Amino acid sequence: MKTDTFRERDFLTLLDYTREEVETILDVAQDLKRKRATGEKHHLLDDQTLFLIFYNQSLRTRNSFEAGMTHLGGHAHFLDPSKIYTPALKGREVAYSTERVSDVARTLARMGEAIAIRCYGDPVDWEYGEAHKMMREFARWSDIPIINMECDKYHPCQALADLLTVKEKCGGFSGVNFTMSWAYSPSVHKPRAVPQSAIIAATMMGMKVTLAHPQGMELDPEVLKSCKQLASAGGGSFRTTNSFEEGLEGADVIYPKAWCPTHFFKQPVGNNDEKKSQQIFDQNKQWICDQQHLSMAKKNAIYMHCLPCDRGFEVTDEVIDGPQSVVFDEAENRLHAQKAVMALTMR
Ligand code: CP
Repeated sequence: MKTDTFRERDFLTLLDYTREEVETILDVAQDLKRKRATGEKHHLLDDQTLFLIFYNQSLRTRNSFEAGMTHLGGHAHFLDPSKIYTPALKGREVAYSTERVSDVARTLARMGEAIAIRCYGDPVDWEYGEAHKMMREFARWSDIPIINMECDKYHPCQALADLLTVKEKCGGFSGVNFTMSWAYSPSVHKPRAVPQSAIIAATMMGMKVTLAHPQGMELDPEVLKSCKQLASAGGGSFRTTNSFEEGLEGADVIYPKAWCPTHFFKQPVGNNDEKKSQQIFDQNKQWICDQQHLSMAKKNAIYMHCLPCDRGFEVTDEVIDGPQSVVFDEAENRLHAQKAVMALTMR
């Protein structure tokens, strides 16, 4: 964290921000959303450049940042790590193929106003925490803000869009029963950043949060500890269950999606056991959000997903294309939430 105001602050996880600060970001996002709807120009970042470094694929994140910078009067510059000298941590360098993060950060900081990075999974060999470490290393060396566009621990931009969507659909956060649930996917190559950031965001805002997953699919214990503390400080609650049905019962918001088990990560966190990970997945194919499961939640419950989803596995077409699904409002809210982050940190 660089200052006690928003200006020039990194945005790496909601855990670096207070509840009041997150509420301010949401207020600014709503204001910018209104301005966009009424056609009022809001060129708050004229002549500014945001560098986007994507180690992984993306539809929503890349396009919402690029469109957002256009709306704000600036420019988003896309950088493919395989076409520059790939930014690498000390110890992972390859001569004339990579460039040390400290050098990339200090170079780009001379040319633009912020650097946004997405990195998880294969580019860091599924060594849990390595991608987040790289973001922190960028932040250590850069004197312009670093924005996390999803690492192996957190996806704070998605979490902001999720909060904005809940605020709009439920009228606020107090008393809202929010269920983050695991759901089946044929692929075990699924990062944990979305569920971890969603439960951090929901507990921070004082919602009544349930985390539902099969045994063996536990999330990062440090994140769970933070959620308990946030729930206690924020007037909400946090519980976990290994029953899909129990998690859905009485929920106002359901958010079922796949994530990989700890076994899948390399040592020391996991043991790189893809076979065991696949076994756990395949034993839990019944964790699909179909109409019958949706009906266990409250009558007007909303169905959320960060997208992309695995249709026919995580969720049926009937549910995701049905009247309770808010997934495209949620995707749109990426744009407004990230514009708020950029406008607050880059000005
Ligand atoms: N939800 C999300 O981050 O989408 P993309 O992977 O398409 O960016």
